[in-house]
Amino acid sequence: MDIQLLCSWERHEKLPEKYERPESDRPRLWEVCDWDNVPIIDMGCEERGRIVKEVGEACKSYGFFQVINHGVSKELVEKMIGVGKHFFELPLEEKLKFYSDDPSKTVRLSTSFNVRKEQFHNWRDYLRLHCYPLSNYSPHWPSNPPSFREIVSEYCMEVRKLGYRIEELISESLGLEKEYIREALGEQGQHMAINCYPPCPQPELTYGLPGHTDPNALTILLQDLHVAGLQVLKDGNWLAVNPHPNAFVINIGDQLQALSNGVYKSVWHRAVVNVDNPRLSVASFLCPCDDALITPAPPLTQNAHGPAPIYRPFTYAEYYNTFWSRNLDQQHCLELFKNHPP
Ligand code: OGA
Ligand code: NI
Repeated sequence: MDIQLLCSWERHEKLPEKYERPESDRPRLWEVCDWDNVPIIDMGCEERGRIVKEVGEACKSYGFFQVINHGVSKELVEKMIGVGKHFFELPLEEKLKFYSDDPSKTVRLSTSFNVRKEQFHNWRDYLRLHCYPLSNYSPHWPSNPPSFREIVSEYCMEVRKLGYRIEELISESLGLEKEYIREALGEQGQHMAINCYPPCPQPELTYGLPGHTDPNALTILLQDLHVAGLQVLKDGNWLAVNPHPNAFVINIGDQLQALSNGVYKSVWHRAVVNVDNPRLSVASFLCPCDDALITPAPPLTQNAHGPAPIYRPFTYAEYYNTFWSRNLDQQHCLELFKNHPP
């Protein structure tokens, strides 16, 4: 097996050929502006109606927002980032125990996005973990650093609670019952990607992650506080979402776009890299259970003047297989699940 992990925190001298994208497919970093007004939602606010309204507006207009006073302690967040960095700093032989490019593995260290399928590689290594139910998976996680399992388990539990709260807010903001999304998605799976983006000799020629939408329901992203890299497509322009202290970045995934009948958007986003600083991000994904039937919520489409359902019903298992069989930066995967006009 030809393993091409970047996997060292150290500097690389030269961009290998497989990472260099053609001129038409580069990040054009000089055109990117800061997105100064990413909605920041204070989850500690006592007026629930106000939070619901803000969530609704953010999901409709941007598909992205940040949350503060979210209930996950600063200490735990710092420990999560710390243990992620320590993992990537381990000697290569230690990390290679977890290497796999088979997306069906429940614990795997890999690189780029889909090394078996893609034409160009991306400047990213990642450790991907299934996290729910914890007791099924955590015994197979790395035990080095020694505190890895304990810290990551606690983080996963806290982030899951936060995700549920956000799903309730999203349900209400769509005018649905508070429990609607949780019931529609069944017993949700939870995955985590600990992304490591080493310093890159030529960041203008490649990506950490090229533009994509997330195939799951809801993503809760923890960004390295000191190194920016996340960018979101808004009205045809890429905007940088700079890290905000003590915030998580939340984005709507494809499944909530389908459930909301396209009212809420699963927006294109990407990660870019830089010459000087390694960057770590921790993405937590809540996913419908495999056999959940995803369909535009009937209350949104069944009244006399309401819009017709844009998407046909599909199971999450079907969606996920389609997603992983493609290249990351093709058309929006949901396009393949649209109802055809009669
Ligand atoms: C992802 C993702 C962005 C980042 O893992 O799906 O979009 O900043 N990550 O690492
Ligand atoms: Ni993403």
